[in-house]
Amino acid sequence: MIKFENVTKIYPGLAKPAVDSLSFTVPSGEICTLVGPSGCGKTTTLKMVNRLIEPTQGAIYVPNGNGDLVNVMEVNPIQLRRKIGYVIQQIGLFPHWTIFENIATVPRLLGWDNDRIRRRAEELLEMMNMSPEYMDRYPHELSGGQRQRIGVARALAVDPPIMLMDEPFGAIDPINRNLLQNEFLRLQKEMKKTVLFVTHDIDEAIKMSDRICIMNVGGRLEQYDTPAAILSNPANEFVENFVGADRALKQLNLIRVEEIMDTAPVLLQLDQPAAEAWALLRERELRSAFVVGPDGRLRGYVVRRELRDKTGTVGDYFTRADMGIEISTTLRDALSEMLAMDYNTVCIVDNHNRVQGMLSIEMIQKKIAESNVNGDDQENGA
Ligand SMILES: Nc1ncnc2c1ncn2[C@@H]1O[C@H](COP(=O)(O)OP(=O)(O)O)[C@@H](O)[C@H]1O
Ligand SMILES: [Mg+2]
Repeated sequence: MIKFENVTKIYPGLAKPAVDSLSFTVPSGEICTLVGPSGCGKTTTLKMVNRLIEPTQGAIYVPNGNGDLVNVMEVNPIQLRRKIGYVIQQIGLFPHWTIFENIATVPRLLGWDNDRIRRRAEELLEMMNMSPEYMDRYPHELSGGQRQRIGVARALAVDPPIMLMDEPFGAIDPINRNLLQNEFLRLQKEMKKTVLFVTHDIDEAIKMSDRICIMNVGGRLEQYDTPAAILSNPANEFVENFVGADRALKQLNLIRVEEIMDTAPVLLQLDQPAAEAWALLRERELRSAFVVGPDGRLRGYVVRRELRDKTGTVGDYFTRADMGIEISTTLRDALSEMLAMDYNTVCIVDNHNRVQGMLSIEMIQKKIAESNVNGDDQENGA
């Protein structure tokens, strides 16, 4: 874990602190995000962990490797930084070094032999979904998203238990940013690093964090809690304003479609007689239903009136459509997609397009209404 105890930083010559008696603990294996307006002391807080900046008062503790905590001021800064990966926006890759040489920086300092470094670099590129061919390229030959992946890979090179990430995806376009966020979350499931992550974007904080530390100008901590608790129960007006008026919608980021979908929707088979399918839909009072093939994969949908008085099979009358949403999608993303495609109902599928359930706009609305009702007396959303 990382423990902050009354940490204050006053820059020389300034009257007011940049960080003001900050106390909080990041549990081991969790992602904690510092979020707040520009100038509220996020970067300063981060840099005090690896001693790029030293606190004026208070102490920061990190594990010493034997299960005990040690004050970072009592560790040799070079030793300390080898155990702490550091990723920054606009990365700081060395422009005249190849990707391999960039990744090799810290392993070389630790005296790893070339074979071992190369194996690790290959492994890291694979983790970042990049081909080993990139090893011999230079940073300027990569896209912004790829460079940022190398920034993350380099920080992970010697597998440090702690990662500090300062607006790591801030300069990336929204689509790639989303990809990078998802990739990092997927990696984190296995890596279980203790991560201190900085962003000024509350949506990114909600998505990435186990816990969020909301900071205000002057380096004051306003609330430290899980995303769910912060959304449902903001500690004060500042937090409420910072998370925004649409916090009900934001809560949808924390819920996956599989948690609320109907897991037993009416499904029709391609080879099912049309008359039988029509009777079934009438009995269930459904105007349409999804159609699956013999392999259980989604093929499209059929409208009840198209089947009325028809001979033949469902396969003769259905509309081929790709209206499946993956089971791990957040409700927020599912809702956006449904609104964009103008679908009231979507089919929920696994990554092989096999039907797992059904989701309607009404089901999402009901969820929003529930979280609003429960919001004020929810103690802790964790
Ligand atoms: N090296 C420095 N010298 C003096 N003041 C600084 C220095 N670095 C940052 N500050 C000031 O400290 C405050 C916090 O800065 P910073 O930690 O960079 O905020 P954030 O990362 O949240 O935008 C700001 O008012 C900033 O101007
Ligand atoms: Mg900053």
